[in-house]
Amino acid sequence: MLIGGQWMPSASGKTFEVVNPATEEVIAHVAEGEAEDIDRAVKAARKAFESGAWPAMTPSARGRMISRVGDLILDNLDEFAELESLDNGKPITIARVADVPLAADMFHYMSGWATKMHGQTIPLSVLYTPGASYHSYTRPEPVGVVGQIIPWNFPLLMAAWKLAPALATGCTVVLKVAEETPLSALRLGEVLQEAGIPDGVVNIVTGFGETAGAALASHSGVDKVAFTGSTEVGRLIVKAAAADLKKVSLELGGKSPNIVLDDADLDTAIPGAANAIFFNHGQCCCAGSRLYASDKIFDKVVEGVSEAASKIKVGPGLDPETEMGPMVSKIQHERVSGYLEAGAAEGARAATGGRKKDGAGYFIEPTVLVDTKQDMKVNQEEIFGPVVTAMPFKGMDEELVRRANDTVYGLAAGIWTRDVSKAHTLAAQLRAGTVWVNCYNIFDSALPFGGYKQSGWGREMGEAVLDNYTETKAVTIGL
Ligand code: NAI
Ligand code: MG
Repeated sequence: MLIGGQWMPSASGKTFEVVNPATEEVIAHVAEGEAEDIDRAVKAARKAFESGAWPAMTPSARGRMISRVGDLILDNLDEFAELESLDNGKPITIARVADVPLAADMFHYMSGWATKMHGQTIPLSVLYTPGASYHSYTRPEPVGVVGQIIPWNFPLLMAAWKLAPALATGCTVVLKVAEETPLSALRLGEVLQEAGIPDGVVNIVTGFGETAGAALASHSGVDKVAFTGSTEVGRLIVKAAAADLKKVSLELGGKSPNIVLDDADLDTAIPGAANAIFFNHGQCCCAGSRLYASDKIFDKVVEGVSEAASKIKVGPGLDPETEMGPMVSKIQHERVSGYLEAGAAEGARAATGGRKKDGAGYFIEPTVLVDTKQDMKVNQEEIFGPVVTAMPFKGMDEELVRRANDTVYGLAAGIWTRDVSKAHTLAAQLRAGTVWVNCYNIFDSALPFGGYKQSGWGREMGEAVLDNYTETKAVTIGL
């Protein structure tokens, strides 16, 4: 683990295994951090914050260092892509064009904000002191020591989404990475050092959620917790943070509707709907997992998406031919298989796929489920695997909007239509933090991302993320 600029084992000396999900082989042992390690890391982050090693550096120097992190990620692109594929299971070809460059871009993008963190001057109209005059301004200030807890679906990218804005705003960090996929963040720790980020500014702890994660969320030396993961653990984070009312931002689950209207260009909508669910093996919080297609084109859409699903090359991520790798872990493999069984038991039919694959590795067939009802488990709960439910609808009306919004989540939604008026009308009616029209899974460091309802609190990326890591101070001077 990286604590206070030193690479060290856990205080207990314990380690845990890291498994390649394509082969089920142990590929590494990493330190098992627990409460004592979190405490050391928080103290190191506090020292770096209060000594001014990071927040008091000039914005320009800070920005240049953050940008250098982005450069170094790109310099080591192949190594990062290989680590990500080995550890998470994702195709190396995807990691090369998506995960790694997007992670670098997040550092490049956020580096520019370091020099643009300015406040406002605000004219006052104070009525009770006639003749008095004041000069008031605001200062955005770093919130302090931030505890960040990230999942395994995009290990490097999630680290970048969290670290880059915290660094740009002048915070110091304890990052607790997912136990399933610790490797790329550890390599990133070396890159942060190489870029010159001072000791203690970023501390990286490997360990389990119930121990290391829980200790970080409840540590009194942490000013703010930023979490990405399950809605269930999101609730635990809020409870843990409640004792001393830490600031909290959350990026949680989803059950996103993807709507194909009858006038859609099916040559783009069908591959688009397949990509919406099958990208990253469906292990995306924003996956388009409920596919609503107009009854006029429903059969064609189901047939097209099923054909696309059946053609996906499923295999080990390191094979350059592979288009979809295994589920990240045995637990996730069992969870997704459990949903396939639950769907079948409730009467859903697999138009394609529907099974886990035999043999070594946590593989699941890309699956399209039909004959489902809105209230079935497969339509209400996040599956987080390559499984989409397809349902017909009659027209673009209130009932369609009601069904699309009939979920506790509100992360993303998709619309496919050639009618600009319908696109804008529906985009406004969907209760989701992101709406994609005639595209899906389009992310950019400059675009805010986050959830309505139980999909989260706050936004990541773009200018909006700065709110997650700053306090606003109002200063008033009597003249
Ligand atoms: P999880 O929410 O348990 O894990 C995410 C992170 O939280 C990991 O770093 C984990 O160590 C940590 N964590 C777990 N328990 C904690 C606790 N009590 N206190 C503090 N930190 C804790 O998610 P898990 O178990 O890996 O996956 C379960 C389901 O969560 C998935 O099937 C999926 O539906 C959803 N999920 C959503 C993600 C998203 O991007 N929104 C990412 C990963 C999972
Ligand atoms: Mg969990």
